Parts: sequence; structure tokens; C-alpha cells
Amino acid sequence: MSARQIRNIVILTGAGISAESGLGTFRDRGGIWEKFDWQKLATPEAFTADPESVHAFYNARRENLLAAQPNDAHRALAALELLWQAEERGQFLLVTQNIDDLHARGGSNEVLHMHGELLKSRCNHCGHLFEHEHAITPNTPCPACGRSGGLRPHVVWFGEMPLGLDTIYEALGACDLFVAIGTSGTVYPAAGFVTEAKAAGAWTVELSLQPGEVSTLFDERHYGPATKLVPEWAERV
Ligand code: APR
Repeated sequence: MSARQIRNIVILTGAGISAESGLGTFRDRGGIWEKFDWQKLATPEAFTADPESVHAFYNARRENLLAAQPNDAHRALAALELLWQAEERGQFLLVTQNIDDLHARGGSNEVLHMHGELLKSRCNHCGHLFEHEHAITPNTPCPACGRSGGLRPHVVWFGEMPLGLDTIYEALGACDLFVAIGTSGTVYPAAGFVTEAKAAGAWTVELSLQPGEVSTLFDERHYGPATKLVPEWAERV
């Protein structure tokens, strides 16, 4: 596909893009879900049963995130977004499954966090959503309503509905290019985005360390570290 044909882009990122920033992936050897049981930490039922352990898990991840820095892959996507907007080439949608804020810190202006954001919390009592960098316990009071016991990380747990799906499917239905970066393609609906994009006639590209579960569906595939692949690919676009 030549650059002249590409107007609308949808990019989907996963944990692999933040791996070289020091944040663990989930399903690689030694990954987060090998060390921790997601059923006990990342479901609404787990939170009801044992909020203390769930908070401790996310408190530790928040601490890791605050110590991490964006890498060249995050920065390359930010530069591409800037170019797309400056030259009014078309729609540019960056969707991430990551709950880290490294895309924003890498310079991206608009990021759709379909699995939520680790540096935000919300209150189950009053619905207040707010930015939050510190540790939370079941006793932490909500800054809006003052009640404790209701705060939870603003992340999408297994069994919950991802965020922004209407916007994502609309963009996928109109995109010319779909790129999945650093994701294993095991979690739906994100793993199904390549099929939606192909149905819309888009060229589809997988950039990752190794083939994901749905890799055979992509038109073009490149394997290696994101900090190398993503800047190279962005340069070609
Ligand atoms: N560069 C590029 N890709 C990498 C790198 C790297 N340096 N390191 C690892 N990868 C790739 C792996 O090969 C793997 O395919 O990143 C992918 C990470 O896959 P997962 O750990 O499954 O992460 P992800 O696909 O983002 O998981 C989806 O699962 O538990 C949930 O909510 C969580 O958003 C997450 C979702």
C-alpha cells in the first residue's frame, strides 16, 4: 500500500510497547499473570472478596509506573500523530489496552484507554472519577463524598465492558490502515479489531516481539523489539 492511499489510521497497542520501559507484559515468560492470579486480582468478584489484596496489587503497579519512562516506540507514535494532524491527512486513532500513561508522557495528544487508566480512581458510592497517584486502601476516603470503602482503580477488569467501543468500531469501519503493536491477541474484543479493519478494506500490520494468537489474519507482520520496529515503521508511513 502506498502512503498516498492511507488517510485514516487506527493503532492498537498492548503491553509489549511498554516492555522496554520496564513495565511487565502479562503472558510472556515471567509475565504478570504468571506471577499473579488474575482471578484473585482483576475481577469485580475478587475486589468484593478481597479489596485489600486488589488494592495492594494496583498500588505496586502504580509505583512501578511512576518510576518508568516512555520509550522510542511511544515517541514515534506521538510524532506520527503530530504529522497526521499537522498535514490534515485523515483520522488518527491511538487505542491502547495499557493502563499506563506512557503514550501521553511520550507526547501523544489523544489516547483512548480501552482498559482504563492506572493513575485514575473512581468511587463506587458517588461515581467521582479523579486522578490519583498514591496508594489506596479500603479505608481511603473519597475526596468528593468523603465515604471510605468505595474507591477502586479506574481499570477494566475481566468481565467488565471495555471503554470507548463505539468510537473504536466507528474508526475501524473507516480505516485504511490498522496496526497492532505489542499485543498477544488473546483478549477480546481488542483481538477482534483486525477482523473489523479487514472487513473495512484496511491494510493490517502486526508489530510485536513474536506472532500473537491472531497473527495469520494480518497482511504484514514484523517481529522484534518495539523500540526498533515502531520508529522504523512510522518512518515508512
Ligand atoms: N516489543 C514488542 N513486543 C513485545 C515486547 C517488546 N519489547 N515484549 C513483549 N512483546 C509482545 C509479546 O510477544 C506479546 O505478544 O507483547 C505481547 C504482550 O502480550 P500480553 O502480555 O498478552 O499483553 P496484552 O496483549 O497487552 O494483553 C491484553 O490482557 O490481562 C489483560 O488487561 C490486560 O490489557 C491487557 C490485556
